Order: sequence, then C-alpha cells, then structure tokens
Amino acid sequence: VDPEQIAELHHQHHAQYTEDMPLWLALAQEATGRTLELGCGTGRVLLALADAGIEVVGVDHDAAMLSVLRRQLKAQPRANMSVIEGDFTEAAVSGEFPLIIMPCNTYSTLDADMRQKTLARVKTWLAPGGRFVASLPNPALLAELEAESEPEMELALDDPATGATLSVSSGWAREDGWLRFDWVYDLLHPDGRVERGTASTRHELAGWTQLAGELEDAGFRVDAWGDHTRKAFDADQDANLIFCAQCV
Ligand SMILES: C[S@@+](CC[C@H](N)C(=O)[O-])C[C@H]1O[C@@H](n2cnc3c(N)ncnc32)[C@H](O)[C@@H]1O
Repeated sequence: VDPEQIAELHHQHHAQYTEDMPLWLALAQEATGRTLELGCGTGRVLLALADAGIEVVGVDHDAAMLSVLRRQLKAQPRANMSVIEGDFTEAAVSGEFPLIIMPCNTYSTLDADMRQKTLARVKTWLAPGGRFVASLPNPALLAELEAESEPEMELALDDPATGATLSVSSGWAREDGWLRFDWVYDLLHPDGRVERGTASTRHELAGWTQLAGELEDAGFRVDAWGDHTRKAFDADQDANLIFCAQCV
C-alpha cells in the first residue's frame, strides 16, 4: 500500500470523527476574517469550514495527505480555500488571521522545540485579539495508560462502490515520555485479497501545566476547555484538552 493509499484510508477513517466540527465552525463564525488550519491533512475540517462559507487557508507538509485533499477540490472546487504545502514552522503564509486552529491531536505530536517554533509563527500570523485553538488528547490520561496494549479493532467500514471493507485496528506503546499509536489498515476485497497499510503517530506526554507555562512564556494568555462545548478543562476526567491562546 503506497503513501497515498494510506492517506486515503486515513481520510476514510478520520471522516468518521465529526464530534469536534461544531466547535471549529462556531469559532470560525465568531472570528471576522480568514481561518488558518495548521496540519489540515486531507481536509476533514478545512472542507467543512469552506463549505460553510468561511475563507480558509490550510498548511500541511504531507504530500500524500494533500493529494487526497486536492483530489476532492478538483471534484468540487472551492474558491474560498487555499492550501500551502510545507512545514508550518517554515511555510510562506502571508497575512493575518483572527483564528488559527490545530484540530485533532497534532499539537501533542510536536516536541518542545517544534512547539516553540510554532508558537513564534502563530504570534506573527494572529490578528489583534485573534485566537489560536488546538485540540489534543489529555496528556494526564495518556500518561495513565498501560505501557503497552494489544492491537484492538477500532472500526470496520464498507465501501459500497468497490464492495471492499476497511478494517482499522490500533494499539499503543509508551517510550521515553512519549506514547506511540500504531494503526493497521486492512482493506478486505470481495475476491478475498487483503491489502495492509500501517501508520504511527507519537504524542508527547507533557502535562497541561508544562504546556500552559510554555504558552505563557511565549506571550500568550490561555484558557483550557475539556470538550467541544468549551466547558472548563478537568485534567482528571476529560479525554480532550482544547486550549485557546491569545496574545497578551
Ligand atoms: C492527525 S492529522 C489532523 C488532520 C486534520 N487537522 C483533521 O483534523 O482531520 C495531523 C496532520 O498534521 C500534519 N503535520 C504534522 N506536523 C506538521 C508540520 N510540522 N507542518 C505541517 N503539517 C504537519 C500531518 O501531516 C497531518 O496531516
């Protein structure tokens, strides 16, 4: 399975996750002006915002993910969307944004150096009073997981067009202050053929106190929400940590 096929399978898998969408949409509607998404992937959030009439810019460094996004744009062009291929700590992104978002667990994949570089760039892009909002798994809960898990089936999806079934399973392993998630994508064809793809991501187990300290040192004041309704974050309970940072 080539990288683009993995990206396509990742897209089908993540398209199932819509719980956070009302938050991004509401934030974008509260902001007057363009929304910048850092790590837009195959466009799960970016396309939905554009379809709601928001002017959006997405940045991602993964060519295979962007190729899946561009294929969707080719099928249905959106004049209010632009996509920049590159690392968001370096990419040429011009103009100001009242809202910058980093949905779906990208922030925790960055190490301390990348977080610092990202925050420095976010500061240059935020319009006065603008917000930078990122959603990540609650590091306190990740840190409490067993050191290693057996792979477990997450979901199975039928593709009526091809008759194939996509089966996704995942497991994790802790390593030196990071938690690595491994996904296995099996595409089961009607003729019995099975194509297998794998993908991994690592999340740093830095706690909210550390992350909030870094944000404050970088010149932001922060709020932390525990879910997509923006209730106050509770480190002992909440599966998600969503922070909202504004320049001091
Ligand atoms: C978990 S996906 C999230 C995709 C999308 N935001 C969503 O909500 O479905 C993380 C994305 O961030 C991208 N990414 C991670 N680090 C990046 C970096 N330094 N520069 C640009 N893109 C990055 C990855 O390539 C990937 O597409």
